Amino acid sequence: MGFLQRHHLLLLVLVHSILFLSYQVQSLDEKQNLLQGLNSYRASLNLSALTENSNADCFADELASQFKNQPCSNTTGADTVPGTEPQLSNYPDLLAKCQLNITDTRDGALMPVCVPNLDPDLVLTNYTETQYTQYLNESTYIGAGIGAEGNWMVVVLSTNTMGGAFTPAVNVASLFFDVGLAQNLMPLLLVFILVLLS
Ligand SMILES: *[C@@H]1O[C@H](CO)[C@@H](O)[C@H](O)[C@H]1NC(C)=O
Ligand SMILES: *[C@@H]1O[C@H](CO)[C@@H](O)[C@H](O)[C@H]1NC(C)=O
Ligand SMILES: *[C@@H]1O[C@H](CO)[C@@H](O)[C@H](O)[C@H]1NC(C)=O
Ligand SMILES: *[C@@H]1O[C@H](CO)[C@@H](O)[C@H](O)[C@H]1NC(C)=O
Ligand SMILES: *[C@@H]1O[C@H](CO)[C@@H](O)[C@H](O)[C@H]1NC(C)=O
Repeated sequence: MGFLQRHHLLLLVLVHSILFLSYQVQSLDEKQNLLQGLNSYRASLNLSALTENSNADCFADELASQFKNQPCSNTTGADTVPGTEPQLSNYPDLLAKCQLNITDTRDGALMPVCVPNLDPDLVLTNYTETQYTQYLNESTYIGAGIGAEGNWMVVVLSTNTMGGAFTPAVNVASLFFDVGLAQNLMPLLLVFILVLLS
């Protein structure tokens, strides 16, 4: 490869890195804003602030990237109509990517919303003025992870109980080789469906 091509390649990589970084920063801002908004809402109900849970964060990101290609409609996100919830068959893979174990996540609440361009005010009210309030209104949830991709934002709430702390599994490999995987997955899928149903 000649010097000029390599030079161009480097420049291209640099430009992409800068774009990627600025996108990351912007997305970080969106998440921080939302967390602040959710915590103001919690404060107005005299509930403790949600603290950032990095494993829930990771899982929220994985979920958001699953949703990102779906267009917003009046039947997605916070407006999901009972019986039409998205079924994510690759849950085990998504959990594994975050070194999570189903037994540590089944009590969590998963709350996806779809808002064009993630308008901050609409994103917040999609949590504080919809079916999701019943979860934000719960003192059992103490932590939150937030993921954003495209028009989708996903908030994952964690608890301080064994079943919802989102602490990484000690034995991640067992997630792959467990023959009873489908059975183990049911609780989380159920939570997911309940969240969307209610
Ligand atoms: C929150 O607590 C304050 C002081 O303890 C009380 O005056 C207020 O009514 C409470 N608000 C709610 C929504 O419980
Ligand atoms: C969603 O929007 C369509 C039209 O775009 C309308 O026919 C339908 O009734 C709406 N559904 C709900 C649940 O609002
Ligand atoms: C939720 O977001 C949608 C945009 O996808 C918006 O039309 C709707 O008004 C929002 N709902 C609330 C309660 O803010
Ligand atoms: C939150 O929960 C409390 C007690 O369960 C209830 O009195 C209150 O109306 C709820 N608030 C909202 C905004 O859902
Ligand atoms: C999750 O971890 C617990 C112990 O931390 C273990 O007993 C259980 O078998 C694990 N489950 C899966 C599906 O890996």
